[in-house]
Amino acid sequence: MAEHDDFSTEAIHSGQIDDPFGAAVSPLYDSTTFSFADTEALLEVVGGRKQAAFYSRYGMNPSITSLEQRLAALDKAESALAFGSGMAAISSLCLAFGRGGIICFGEIYGGTMVFLQQQAALLGITTRFVASDDDADFVSALGQGASLVFMETPANPTLKVSDIEKTARLSHQHGARLAVDNTFATPINQQPLSLGADFALQSATKYLGGHSDLTAGVVAGKDREITELNEWRKSLGQAIAPEVAHKLKRSLVTLPLRVERHNKNAETLAAFLHQHPLIEKVYYPGLETSENHELATRQMRGFGGMLSFDLKGSATAARQFADRLTLMKLAPSLGGAETLITQPVTSSHYGLPKALLDKAGISDRMIRLSVGLEAVDDLIADLEQALRATA
Ligand SMILES: Cc1ncc(COP(=O)(O)O)c(C=O)c1O
Repeated sequence: MAEHDDFSTEAIHSGQIDDPFGAAVSPLYDSTTFSFADTEALLEVVGGRKQAAFYSRYGMNPSITSLEQRLAALDKAESALAFGSGMAAISSLCLAFGRGGIICFGEIYGGTMVFLQQQAALLGITTRFVASDDDADFVSALGQGASLVFMETPANPTLKVSDIEKTARLSHQHGARLAVDNTFATPINQQPLSLGADFALQSATKYLGGHSDLTAGVVAGKDREITELNEWRKSLGQAIAPEVAHKLKRSLVTLPLRVERHNKNAETLAAFLHQHPLIEKVYYPGLETSENHELATRQMRGFGGMLSFDLKGSATAARQFADRLTLMKLAPSLGGAETLITQPVTSSHYGLPKALLDKAGISDRMIRLSVGLEAVDDLIADLEQALRATA
């Protein structure tokens, strides 16, 4: 399709199933298995000479494969695989390509960290964690041997932006592949594969699903590697269910529209918070004052719907502020139509020692917003009333 930055046509038309009844949108195939006219026809598929519907756990179901075509189109990838969750995608990917050692470059999602430090370590997969602004440390870790580098940009909850192009170049120079967790940005705002990454992955539970009502994951990349990854997905039983695939494919239709609105609302809220006397610091790469702005402008098309900020005052005041919001809901997760608020110290980073929090740049006055699609004036009014009551 066209070589421009507007993915609306791909989001609507790619992966359309050619339905014998002429259905205008792809129907749901919730069958677990598919039948064949004779043994010869079955053997063509079993022997890999023909791609066809076969068995849903293998991902060989039209509702799954057509979703994957749409996901690949959005990432400008040769292929994509859909999983039952973001963690299913991440764990399969690490098992398939991380057995020569994994380097986590910068901050990564807590669930990924737990998997690497606990389950993957038990299987003999070693992981090194390096700061994303320390090239020397990164190159030294690469020199000690790694087959997979894992990064997340923008990262949770500081929205720190890391350089995908440079990380891909250094990883490849040392024979490692680069995987980018693109959950916060989505393919609409950032295209990791075009920037040199080998894999673009996402928790589709967030913006791709977009309505806080499904759990799924995706990995996109080159045909050869995705075929290898598919063997792991198959044996570990991690494929997405056809019903969820159908629902996710429908959500993708509005992804470009939704992301545009998330971007716009978040930019407005970031500007509002930035000038507010009770706010100490706003973390949003779209702000010109952000240390991440220059790099974000280079590698992103939009700055996303996630932002964090530190309130002035005490930890208790920050907690009271969070409790006083009425329109914005206090809940983990992100990427839905409704604005959600969390405090990292009471959710994703709960119980971590202060030294670790300080190192990660997370204060007990930090609030994270997943900015939704509501009228932005209503969101500002909610923030204003909670700030007034906290002052
Ligand atoms: C950045 C990021 N990656 C991966 C995941 C895991 O996704 P899931 O909950 O769909 O397994 C999450 C979940 O919050 C996330 O925020």
